[in-house]
Amino acid sequence: MLLLRRFQKVDLNLIRSSKDFSTLYMDPSLYNTLEKPTTSVGQFFSGPVSKTFSNMDTQDQVVMDMGCGPGNITTKSIVPLFPNLKKVLAVDILPNMIEFAKKNNSHPKVDYSVGDISQWSSVEKWGGEISNFFSIQVFHWLKDQKEGFRHVHQLLKPGGYAVFFFVLQSTFFDMCSEIESKSKWSEYLKDVNSSVPMSHTENYQPEYYADMVTEIGFKIEYYNGDMKTDVFASDSLYRDLFLIAHLKRNRRINGLPTQEGRMLELIARKI
Ligand SMILES: C[S@@+](CC[C@H](N)C(=O)[O-])C[C@H]1O[C@@H](n2cnc3c(N)ncnc32)[C@H](O)[C@@H]1O
Repeated sequence: MLLLRRFQKVDLNLIRSSKDFSTLYMDPSLYNTLEKPTTSVGQFFSGPVSKTFSNMDTQDQVVMDMGCGPGNITTKSIVPLFPNLKKVLAVDILPNMIEFAKKNNSHPKVDYSVGDISQWSSVEKWGGEISNFFSIQVFHWLKDQKEGFRHVHQLLKPGGYAVFFFVLQSTFFDMCSEIESKSKWSEYLKDVNSSVPMSHTENYQPEYYADMVTEIGFKIEYYNGDMKTDVFASDSLYRDLFLIAHLKRNRRINGLPTQEGRMLELIARKI
């Protein structure tokens, strides 16, 4: 019942008519409750990402954070990597995320705006202007990922780095498929299954994406596709964040709920 209670808070009619579960699922205030990045994102930033940018002269750089969400990764993890940067363009497809980010994570060097990486017309004004590009936990939402990578290539200046972190396979996606198959839930969540990416159903491995971005014109600097387990601080945060995650596969570490998945960490350079 937890699922329904939360949805009733949102708006049950919206859910019934929603064609896009992913839009519904994104709640800025919940994402913002993750005060620090998840363990897997944190380790990516403190390891390979920091190493990539540690000795770089970032004077006058324009950095983009695509799919910035509520802006906490932007301000707490990306800005500190670039001490002398000119600005960060933080972009998200959802106007409510951007509104929330402006109110709750404002920063003198961060410009927030609405945009969609899957539509070139939405981002072309920044074409060739971006020094380095980040997109954390976003590319698994794209229906045409190759087109998304192409747009990133067009946005970057030659030599610029693109940093991606996204989910390939996950217990969360298994739950999306499962929920749609159960009549008890499917009335409320008709399109959950359409949010499951091809990488999950087709079991794409990291090499699939390494080949894809190389073909587009990137040189791979680093990639890793290990299974990762993130532990969440409380049951309520976990349930609220993943909405449907209480169904099963809620493996526990030290009594706390976890989320398990194969994450792609990818750092590539435009050549
Ligand atoms: C899981 S949240 C990640 C937010 C933030 N990057 C972080 O790691 O905390 C994914 C974000 O990507 C955004 N998003 C999804 N598809 C997008 C697209 N095509 N273009 C831009 N943003 C998108 C969503 O609105 C959401 O805010």
